[in-house]
Amino acid sequence: MIFEPSSKMAAFQPSIFSDLKNYTTIKKQQGAQLIDLSLGSPDLPPSEQIRHVLSQKSADASAYGYTLGGTDQFYAAVADYYKRRSGILLNPQTDIVQTMGSQEGLVHLPLAFCNPGDIVLTTNPAYVAYEAGITLSGAVPYYMPLREENGFLPDLSIIPEDVAKKAKLLILNLPGNPVPAMPNDNFFKQVVAFAKKYNIIVLHDAAYSEFYFTGQKPVSFLAVAGAMEVGMEINSLSKSFSLAGARIAYIAGNPKMISVLKQLKSNLDYGIFSPIQEAASFALNHAEEITDRLRREFNKRAEALTKGLNEIGWPVQKPDGGMFLWAKIPQGQDDRSFVFRAVDEAGVVMIPGSAFGTAGKSFVRIALVQSVPVLEQAAARLKKVIR
Ligand SMILES: Cc1ncc(COP(=O)(O)O)c(C=O)c1O
Repeated sequence: MIFEPSSKMAAFQPSIFSDLKNYTTIKKQQGAQLIDLSLGSPDLPPSEQIRHVLSQKSADASAYGYTLGGTDQFYAAVADYYKRRSGILLNPQTDIVQTMGSQEGLVHLPLAFCNPGDIVLTTNPAYVAYEAGITLSGAVPYYMPLREENGFLPDLSIIPEDVAKKAKLLILNLPGNPVPAMPNDNFFKQVVAFAKKYNIIVLHDAAYSEFYFTGQKPVSFLAVAGAMEVGMEINSLSKSFSLAGARIAYIAGNPKMISVLKQLKSNLDYGIFSPIQEAASFALNHAEEITDRLRREFNKRAEALTKGLNEIGWPVQKPDGGMFLWAKIPQGQDDRSFVFRAVDEAGVVMIPGSAFGTAGKSFVRIALVQSVPVLEQAAARLKKVIR
């Protein structure tokens, strides 16, 4: 049969992620012992109690029907978690919509709010799903650079007036991927004022909200005065609770916006398996203990890798949060050739910064997804490639 992919598929070409995966698969087949620090897929299992709830509920014969969306129990657990963590009062019925992982929510959300040609403000570099969603909706991205001198926060004041007037949506992510910049009250206040001035919907991606190493919880966007009026926060159980494979997340915020998303979702899918929703509700209800364990481990990892890299003469800063190191490549080497050289000569897999946008070109992203001893070994191995 002869067929042509749609013209939209031109925007979804194989990426550096798949090139690197193919390359490292061949290397492994040839016997290379690689330390993989490329993807941000949590390596630690979810807590035993979460797995217990999931297995018990899965044994129930009546658990296999369509759920058609979030259960009352799940929405109550999200609302309660937001209240305990950030003092935010959410109405479980109207202020939250469940998504099948935040990736699904991020890719579909622009469809709900943007017409073809509308501008979406996003960062450069940024997590790759934002661009996928913008492209699917036919909107056009406008990239706000993340510069070191601004603490890797976007500078809203340099967005041209005509762009701001045409913008429909603004996407932020703090603590970020790939850049582990942290949010602060002041910045979020500026975002709310900017969004009100130009009538822009804000979406804050808080996927790494429980990964912080300074004792200071990253502030929720919804905690800032006026945020519920202008936007939403998307959060996921993938990272904070090691539930990446369970595909469960949610968007919380402005009830009118949430209602539009619920309408879209009711046309897209029939909801998440109820035992997963029960396990996720359990996780949210016990968030403090569960996230504390993960946070301590990731703090140790960030510490060990930073120390190891500094010792080999690669000056990198320990991040205050998130799951990654965003490291400037030594000696101005090109990011892609540096990454492939690191695979060949050091057996360490990282992601070139340009995979997340042109502004990432002098950086690599290193995921803290191995134990402390393995990260120490990775740092020692990298000595060969930094000069
Ligand atoms: C910033 C950010 N948002 C969203 C996601 C998607 O996560 P999930 O779909 O598992 O919730 C990721 C995954 O790496 C991410 O880094």
